[in-house]
Parts: sequence; C-alpha cells; structure tokens
Amino acid sequence: MRTVYLNGDYLPEEEAKVSVFDRGFLMADAVYEVVSVLGGKLIDFDAHVARLQRSLAALDMRAPDAMGDLLAIHRELVARNDLIDGLIYLQVTRGNPGDRDFHYPAPDTAPTLVLFTQSKPGMAASPLARRGARVIAVPDLRWGLRDIKTVQLLYPSMAKMMAEAAGVDDAWMVQDGHITEGTSNNAYIVRDGCIITRALSHDILHGITRAAVLRFAAEARMQVDQRSFTLEEALQADEAFLTSASAFVTPVIEIDGAPVGTGRPGPVVLRLREVYLEESLKRAI
Ligand code: PDD
Repeated sequence: MRTVYLNGDYLPEEEAKVSVFDRGFLMADAVYEVVSVLGGKLIDFDAHVARLQRSLAALDMRAPDAMGDLLAIHRELVARNDLIDGLIYLQVTRGNPGDRDFHYPAPDTAPTLVLFTQSKPGMAASPLARRGARVIAVPDLRWGLRDIKTVQLLYPSMAKMMAEAAGVDDAWMVQDGHITEGTSNNAYIVRDGCIITRALSHDILHGITRAAVLRFAAEARMQVDQRSFTLEEALQADEAFLTSASAFVTPVIEIDGAPVGTGRPGPVVLRLREVYLEESLKRAI
C-alpha cells in the first residue's frame, strides 16, 4: 500500500480524503506536476517547481504553505514508498471554500496539496522507447491556455482512448494543420539533421524535458529550429519523437498508419535519448 502526502500528513492511500467541495474536484481548478525518479533520485526537480510556481501565478492561485518543503516531501515519499524508478505526481487545488461557487474563494482559503508516487520499475528501459511509438493525428480541442499545467485532462484522456481504439500508442494534436503536441508530451520531427519543434506559446505546455533536450542538443551542436510544423511535414520527416517526464525521449515511428522515415527509431532520436538520460542522471538529486 502506498503512502501519500495530503496537506502536511503522510497517510496510507485509503486514508487520504479530500472534500467534495474541493475546487479541484468541482471545477478542475488545480495545477499539477510530474517528476520522474530514476535510481531513487529526482530528475530536473528545480525546473518542475519553477513551472509549478508559474502555473500558480498564471491562475492567481495561492501557493501551498509547504512550497519551500517540496524537495523534502518528494524525498520522504521516495523513502517511505521504497521508490526506485517511477513518478511523483503533485497537485495543488484552490482548496475547499465550503460550497460550490464559480467565483474564486476568499484568498485565505487554504490550497489542497496532494502528492503520490507511481512505481515503474525499469522505466528508463521501456520497450516502447526501443520499438518506437505509433500515433494518430486528432484535432486539438483543448482550451487556449495550455502552457498552464492544469488538471483539465479530459480531452487528452479522450485522445488517448481514440489512440487505443485505433490500436496505436498515442495521439498528436493538430490545430490549423500544424501539430501542437501529444496528449501528454511535446512533439518533434527531424529533417536533414535539424530538430524541429513548435516554439513556446500558450498553444503548448512548456515541457521540462523539452527544455533539457534542446539544451543538450545545442551543447552537442545539433541544429534546432523552434517553429510549427504541419502534419504533412511530419509524414515526410526523417524521424519524429516525443518528450515528457515519463517517456523521456521516445521515437515516433508511425503517424496515421504511415511510417516516418524508415519506420524504425532513427539515429538522432536514439542519440538524444541516450544523452538526455545520461545528463539527467548526472544532475539528478
Ligand atoms: N505530461 N505536453 C503536455 C500536454 C503534457 O501533459 C506533458 C507532460 C508534456 C511534457 O512536459 P514535461 O517534459 O515537463 O513532462 C507536454 C505529464 C508527464 C503527465 O501529464 O503525466
């Protein structure tokens, strides 16, 4: 049984309870982060906390009092759950104002802070990363402020179900003919050795893995172009891949049933995955 964190307490998972009036439950008025754990260490922890702060600020949401203790809480959850490889999920909601109301509650309403672990032994050696992911394209029907990491995940969830129904691994979302991102990852193509990925804006989540991968790519003197690309371009690319805290760098080998490049993981993505894992592990805390 897992030990989870709720508002200052470490509890067995079935004892952790949140009010039915919690804004996270009634309004999806909540933001979250997912930090990966490899060998018991946290990957890119500071960047995830910085993005959490940004998400809270963008929604005028009060930060939990425990904001300064997040590293200690993450480490305590790793220890209490004997977590070696996996994820730590963190969620902050605008709390429980005692009733349902569209208006934000009084500023002194305490936020709800929840963290829990998900164990994924051998996560860095996932078979999907070796085989490569197959995706379908679906329209991007999410709201416009996707750079805020809110828990409004119903459409991404629907898109995952569409992918499952199509017998593939994931869906890439398309807006005005251009790929925005995956259901829970950032999207890239490689053309003539150049890594192409959509520039940062409200259209996509500012992936922590994306930032790290682009930094490592620049350090390795690989060419990077941050611009939108179309579905057609993706279908004609030499390689494609996705990044996230849970998938790291994962090749995409097929889009809408058509192979990308050779239809097998290519040299650029394989190198990036290796560099990303190696460098991230070096910096893990
Ligand atoms: N998802 N884009 C979207 C829409 C995401 O939900 C995520 C992360 C990313 C990648 O961001 P990062 O590199 O910071 O993980 C991009 C997490 C893993 C999730 O919802 O489980």
